[in-house]
Amino acid sequence: MEILIDEIKKTSSDMARRGWAESNGGNISLRLKEEYYEYFNEHKPISDWMKLPETMPEIGGDRFLVTGTGRYLRNIELFPEKNVGVIETDKKGEAYRLLWGYKPKGAPTSELPSHLLSHCRIKEKSDNKMFAFIHTHPNSVIALTYAVANLETKSLTKLLWQSHAECIVVFPQGVEFIPWVMAGSMDLGKATASAMSRRNLAVWQYHGICGCGRNLDEAFGRIDVAEKAAEICLRVMAVGGAKQTLADEQLKAIAANFNCTVDEEIFE
Ligand code: 13P
Ligand code: ZN
Repeated sequence: MEILIDEIKKTSSDMARRGWAESNGGNISLRLKEEYYEYFNEHKPISDWMKLPETMPEIGGDRFLVTGTGRYLRNIELFPEKNVGVIETDKKGEAYRLLWGYKPKGAPTSELPSHLLSHCRIKEKSDNKMFAFIHTHPNSVIALTYAVANLETKSLTKLLWQSHAECIVVFPQGVEFIPWVMAGSMDLGKATASAMSRRNLAVWQYHGICGCGRNLDEAFGRIDVAEKAAEICLRVMAVGGAKQTLADEQLKAIAANFNCTVDEEIFE
């Protein structure tokens, strides 16, 4: 359990220091491997079962470390048991209850629909190897959703791939663009989970980004690279736009060199 707390402390502090987590912005969830279950077996559940907005059989009986709603990611380092909790879903995936955390009283992030519905999809697509999901508010990614007209998944992905030569290696399946949807809603959760079934990153217009991975480092790393590319893109736009850029053939050559399976539709 301590290892997990250390991991979430490191990730949340990194996010805060980069300016991705103003006030209570951003949230993190980590599906627990069974080896961590024993720790909680000694503890009594600290809430009743609460109904999930939709049945999620894919994650029935699973346990998650989840940041609390309204809590500041920058404070996790100092007070993990106040700002983070552990929830458990029932066997059918119809309800959840609290096992640990959110002291003295609290609840999981308001973006729980996006987190849990995405966990269903990433667990499935990775053959049970992906455990981490992060939502955050990095400046350049958000700014890009204002600065570029008619953004959609293909144009956004292409722009980011071209803005930094490593991008196509880090996210060869691209970045899904999700036009504005109300924060915390089931609609946003469904759109995000659907994106996660195809890709490892999704941008929420005017709001932020979500990323998944086998662990927090991998999910964080994907977002970090996308944010860096967005920053480069904005800097290039600020000095009058690109005078040259990576051609499709060069992007494809980079992907082939690193054995990455690219979403070919992005090039269409
Ligand atoms: P929470 O405080 O509920 O986690 O919300 C923060 C956020 O980023 C909403 O999109
Ligand atoms: Zn947010």
